[in-house]
Amino acid sequence: MKKILNIISSPRGEMSFSNKLGNALIGKISAEYPGAEVMVRDLTHGIFPHVHAGQLEAFFTPSDQQTDLQKASVRLSDELIQEVFDADILVLNVPTYNFSIPSSVKAWLDQVVRAGITFKFDENGPKGFVTGKKAYVAISSGAVFSEGPFKENDFVEPYLKTVFGFIGITDLNFFRVEGMGIPALSETALEKALQSIEQYQLI
Ligand SMILES: Cc1cc2nc3c(=O)[nH]c(=O)nc-3n(C[C@H](O)[C@H](O)[C@H](O)COP(=O)(O)O)c2cc1C
Repeated sequence: MKKILNIISSPRGEMSFSNKLGNALIGKISAEYPGAEVMVRDLTHGIFPHVHAGQLEAFFTPSDQQTDLQKASVRLSDELIQEVFDADILVLNVPTYNFSIPSSVKAWLDQVVRAGITFKFDENGPKGFVTGKKAYVAISSGAVFSEGPFKENDFVEPYLKTVFGFIGITDLNFFRVEGMGIPALSETALEKALQSIEQYQLI
């Protein structure tokens, strides 16, 4: 049975276009893999924890030498990493905020991309340990980034490709609901995005 990990980062709940797109992706994947289990990690409840000094120190302390406080400070990171390792498929719902990902997604990545656990550096360079996964990214934006003058200002897709690739997740597929801030486009943007999912061949 496939396990899907859905990362939610828009605080707009059911109104969110990235969530609508992410849900359509989950629907499509679940139809392909009946009985697929969906685990949700919602980053929007309160302020998602940033890496802090004590935690960083704990990351680099062997677990059998960690104090109780250090053990507690790595617990969330351990849990988030386990969720990623447990999943076969990741579905990431991401709004575009100031040309990039929401800070909650960056904070989540800072907890998940951990030396010695999800990647390492050796004489051959970086090596990601999170292999054999597929990831689907549902991006929403006010402007259009897939083509036209803003294309070069898109720091969502290139960044996610880089950081996921770094930990070993290289099979990434991007879907966009875009132009939500442009009246001439916003009326049909969601329908167009949903159609792109419908027509997509899952492999
Ligand atoms: C804080 C903030 C920053 C935003 N920055 C951008 C931006 O740089 N480029 C853009 O095209 N849209 C931007 N938007 C618009 C959102 O990407 C757009 O409304 C999107 O639909 C939000 O995602 P959601 O519907 O999943 O919540 C921004 C919205 C907010 C709230």
